[in-house]
Amino acid sequence: MLSHLPTLGVGLGFREPFKSDLFLHRQQVDFLEIVAEHYLDATSQKQQELELLAAHFPIIPHAINLSLGSAEGLDTDYVRKLAALINQLNPPWWSEHICFTKAGKVDIGHLSPLPYTYEAVDVLCRNIAQVRRFVDVPLILENITYMVTLPGAQMTEAQFLTEVVERSDCGLLLDVTNIYTNAVNHNYDIQAFVKELPWERVVQLHFVGGHWHDGILIDSHSQSTPVEVWKLMDEVVAKMPVKGVVLERDENLPTFAELTAELQHAREIGRSHQRWD
Ligand SMILES: [Fe+2]
Repeated sequence: MLSHLPTLGVGLGFREPFKSDLFLHRQQVDFLEIVAEHYLDATSQKQQELELLAAHFPIIPHAINLSLGSAEGLDTDYVRKLAALINQLNPPWWSEHICFTKAGKVDIGHLSPLPYTYEAVDVLCRNIAQVRRFVDVPLILENITYMVTLPGAQMTEAQFLTEVVERSDCGLLLDVTNIYTNAVNHNYDIQAFVKELPWERVVQLHFVGGHWHDGILIDSHSQSTPVEVWKLMDEVVAKMPVKGVVLERDENLPTFAELTAELQHAREIGRSHQRWD
């Protein structure tokens, strides 16, 4: 099923300050990723913005607060609103994270890691099955960064990601910056990690740069993409059937020319492996 998804190419995570530049440089951006939560309970102004974007670009909704890893199940009102947005846009796929953001009705305000256990896989699969009753569009799941590794793991992180997407029949949104960030902070081997992933399920990538603080790499979406991440992207795009890549810059916003230069770099990587034109 995933192999039938269309190739979207090189995309940008849409942020409001980019709007006017984006329309001036339309030909350099193949598609947009929007943060779904920015358009739930939307004002008419946000609704109009979304219609304008959707009239000019393919749009991928990226949700951050569904909390697929919550053991108590999903917030049904939230699922309904999110489903209405996704169904309105009718995208080729949509995405969420392998994490939890809500526990016992408390909003943590943070993408929190799950223990790498079969119980956590069961919870994710159950919640994904529930969302599917409302949204029929293919779902791809993203790997997150974490500061601490939880005890009680029954498998490695890569095995956990594999187990989740295979059992739930989802695609993988591989954030190559997150892999690099976790690898340097937790001192693991990127090659061994990549080898364990289900390559045929990788649909989309995320990339950006973070900043260093006291010897720890922070996933702040605030810097240009570092050379190590470009190298990892090149390896991943060579091996896996990637349909699109998205630059997700949120902080310390540079000139738009700097963003389009990064998009051009990503375009060349995809071209060199015949993933897109
Ligand atoms: Fe990401």
